[in-house]
Amino acid sequence: MTELPGPSEPLDVSFNEDVLTALTTAFARYGDAFRVFSPTTNSNICVFSHPEHVRHVFVDKNANYTKGIGIERVRILLGNGIMASEGDFWRRQRRMIQPAFHRDVISGMLADIGNANLDLCNEWMEKAGGGREIDLTQHLSDVTLKIVLKSIFGTDMKAIESVAGGNPFMLLTQDTERNLQFAYKFRALSGLVMECVKRRRNAKPENDLLGMLMAGRDRRTNEPMTDRQLIDEVLTLIVAGHETTASALNWLWYLLARHPEIEHRMHAEIDAWDENFSDMNSILQLTYTRQIIEETLRLYPPGWLLTRRSINADVVGSHSIAANTDVFISPYIVHRHPAFWESPDKFDPDRFETSAKSKRNRFCYLPFALGPRACIGEHFAMVEMIVHAALIARKFRLRYLGDKPVAMECQVNLRPKQSIMMQLEKRN
Ligand code: HEM
Repeated sequence: MTELPGPSEPLDVSFNEDVLTALTTAFARYGDAFRVFSPTTNSNICVFSHPEHVRHVFVDKNANYTKGIGIERVRILLGNGIMASEGDFWRRQRRMIQPAFHRDVISGMLADIGNANLDLCNEWMEKAGGGREIDLTQHLSDVTLKIVLKSIFGTDMKAIESVAGGNPFMLLTQDTERNLQFAYKFRALSGLVMECVKRRRNAKPENDLLGMLMAGRDRRTNEPMTDRQLIDEVLTLIVAGHETTASALNWLWYLLARHPEIEHRMHAEIDAWDENFSDMNSILQLTYTRQIIEETLRLYPPGWLLTRRSINADVVGSHSIAANTDVFISPYIVHRHPAFWESPDKFDPDRFETSAKSKRNRFCYLPFALGPRACIGEHFAMVEMIVHAALIARKFRLRYLGDKPVAMECQVNLRPKQSIMMQLEKRN
């Protein structure tokens, strides 16, 4: 067994750019396994970056790890929803929610996803030309929120808006801080979710995500979710489904604007597409567009830092860790690991071509995490992003006129530090 090396400077652990810089610097110096001292917890955090460590923590020994640093804050926002719950309770909830993300259910949501993007295209048609720039970040936040809300509440969104006098969830796009104040304001929307649930109890079941959650039954007891649980899960899906996807799409358009040759290849694929966005098979034909999205998630994984805590003592690689040790695995670092990715900083969607993928260690790519606690919305998110990219790129090129690279903000999500402004150019 080897002792972990690490920097002598302590690390003030919170989710921010300084932490990413400190971790990438220490990775360059100490490699796949190192420790940093955290004054906040008065203990060492182990930072692992080898794909075999990824496999160990998320897959092989996942039962020995709970969520780690930062999860208390997530609980204030999302209660005991599946993002934050643990053990048997989490397993029960995951089983009850999983059917809502079945491919057939997502297929039924494609028309809504496509139509939300067509509305955005229509809005942009009026804004394109004349050299004006649009706030891409704001538009993407709005459209991804609209999609996730429609997927959850279906036609009830209208009723919620009429009770609240407007879309009460807009606070997610208007308020970009993710502090305690935001958490309290967001939790205050629980009442509206509950009213919607109550209205539905006396009506016929709906096929949207809320309908699926309400129909879910515990395998052993046959009990449905309690009201509190429904609220926590709905709020979880809204937050988890909105910001991650919005962040990824920001980076997608930014990278495309900076790589016209890749944009050009994507246009060729999309221009030849039958544009049947309500049909899953038609969407899955867009293989190069999908590769571009996968490569975007490699370079800018919205979940850039995954935190865990060991339950019992364990051995990770050749390193022993005590019980209750905080562990960090950063997809951002693993995705740019020079031993597993050639020219790791280069934007190269061909890496995700089937044959290239099959030659790679599959544990060096984890934008949706891996193992039993991987993202439940992965397929939903991929399909949503492909439809968005295809419908927008059919009509527009987005041109980035800034003279500086877009800086990253590393909160819970890796997102652009400032809104990305883009010039819209209509395509013929
Ligand atoms: C680009 C889009 C997305 C990315 C990159 C992403 C990434 C992730 C990651 C990395 C995790 C694991 C977090 C951890 O272990 O600490 C996660 C969990 C989760 N995600 Fe996503 N996500 C995306 C979209 C979505 C969508 C669209 C939904 C739902 C509508 C969703 C719902 C969830 C939920 C509920 C969990 C918790 C699962 C569990 O612990 O059982 N995500 N996501």
